[in-house]
Amino acid sequence: MSGVVIVGAQWGDEGKGKVVDLLAEHASAIVRFQGGNNAGHTIVRDGEEFKFHLIPSGILYPDKLCMIGNGVVLDPRILLGEIDGLKRRGIDVGNLRISANAHLIMPYHVLLDTAGEVKLGKLSIGTTRRGIGPCYADKALRLGIRVQDLLDEKILRKKIMAALEPKQQALRELSVQRRKLRKEAGEGGREGADPSVAEAPDPRLDLHAMTEEFAGYGHRLEPHIADTARLCWEELDNDRTVLFEGAQATLLDLDHGTYPFVTSSNPIAGAATVGAGVGPTDISAVWGVAKAYATRVGAGPFPTELDDEVGRHMLERGHEYGTTTGRERRCGWIDLVALRYAVRLNRMSALAITKLDVLSGIDTLRAAVRYRSREGAIFDTFPYHQSILHSAVPEYEELPGFDADLTECRSETDLPAQARAYLDFVADFVGVPIRLVGVGPGRDQVLWIGGEPEVL
Ligand code: GDP
Ligand code: IMO
Ligand code: MG
Repeated sequence: MSGVVIVGAQWGDEGKGKVVDLLAEHASAIVRFQGGNNAGHTIVRDGEEFKFHLIPSGILYPDKLCMIGNGVVLDPRILLGEIDGLKRRGIDVGNLRISANAHLIMPYHVLLDTAGEVKLGKLSIGTTRRGIGPCYADKALRLGIRVQDLLDEKILRKKIMAALEPKQQALRELSVQRRKLRKEAGEGGREGADPSVAEAPDPRLDLHAMTEEFAGYGHRLEPHIADTARLCWEELDNDRTVLFEGAQATLLDLDHGTYPFVTSSNPIAGAATVGAGVGPTDISAVWGVAKAYATRVGAGPFPTELDDEVGRHMLERGHEYGTTTGRERRCGWIDLVALRYAVRLNRMSALAITKLDVLSGIDTLRAAVRYRSREGAIFDTFPYHQSILHSAVPEYEELPGFDADLTECRSETDLPAQARAYLDFVADFVGVPIRLVGVGPGRDQVLWIGGEPEVL
């Protein structure tokens, strides 16, 4: 029996999609357990690029079960778009299963997400504006609409009515603020400051039209809707390996990340049990994925952020533009204080370090090994207090850089000594072996340390 969780160890976009695709070779099923289409997971196979927002990154294998677990929030329009896109490319999605208990992102969630961000102005979180936060809020309020509700139009209508009612006030307020919103949208050129948020009545919020539209999605999704927890048990109880594919990342975790600059779910390994419906003892390994440097999209503390030539190098060489929103990612040095925190929080058993190739051409590499607070106090561990973190100044260990192009390296011995020393330093500092190293976006552009594992 083997359940393997794959989690982001930093602020997201570490290359989880690629690592899941590689590890899936050793598994029979792949499950997404949290988040929604705020995620964007990329796989590059034979020069062909695939970007998944909701569909698990195992879908390119025709013989593996791919599940969207109960912990996911699902926008059916986006999912159907992804299914259609894959079909057009000749990829079979017959093995896709969707939990009947997953919650649906409704049009009002998307509107409220955008409106909330616009209202926060300079204090905005920089969400992906996909309705994630409002959807999880409704789930906690017990006003959520679930995938199973799509299959009964009467129930669906009643639930939409109940969920819409308490939002009318907020949506009305927004329409009163119409002019203000429009002005802000014009001034800041803010993406997603959708002027129609303020239009009343908004046709997207019409109860009958919405019910009909969503019932239509239900018809299309019905063949995929299943009891996914039971399907996971079947795999695990028959000694097959299940991969639990994390989205977002540890430092974006609602409880353990840099709150309030976080997402609205728990991307850490522990959440795989709740979000897929398995027990903690079903999990036998946890792989963390981290870049050889660090990036962050959206607002919030990022102690090692660089606003210089090196940061520019990382942005350009690493093509650091959001997979979901296209936004430029903020770039900086690897933060080993934060990474060691992520290792412990997820109790990682292995690390995959991606994008090592991006660091070539930098003279001296730096890795943050402690923080100094404004008052001069030293922090060897990740500070829980927001004010300390916001003003933390990292202190670095310097390591020699390397110039060679790594993209053709396929084994540890192909790497320049400086690159190996850098990886050793990271692994020693955080206390977890690095098992996989990425040297390019392609599926084959990796090297396994200690050989490709037979058991994960
Ligand atoms: P995810 O959200 O964690 O799955 O990561 P994303 O797909 O959002 O972003 C990772 C980006 O880096 C994608 O464009 C990948 O194709 C690319 N990538 C992954 N691994 C490597 C690597 O080792 N080197 C380089 N240069 N690019 C990589
Ligand atoms: P993957 O799975 C990077 C960030 C947003 C914002 C914060 C909250 O591709 O690594 P949300 O829309 O979730 O309410 O936004 O979280 N964020 C991500 N950053 N990668 C992601 O997913 C992210 N999903 C959300 O930029 O700062
Ligand atoms: Mg991503």
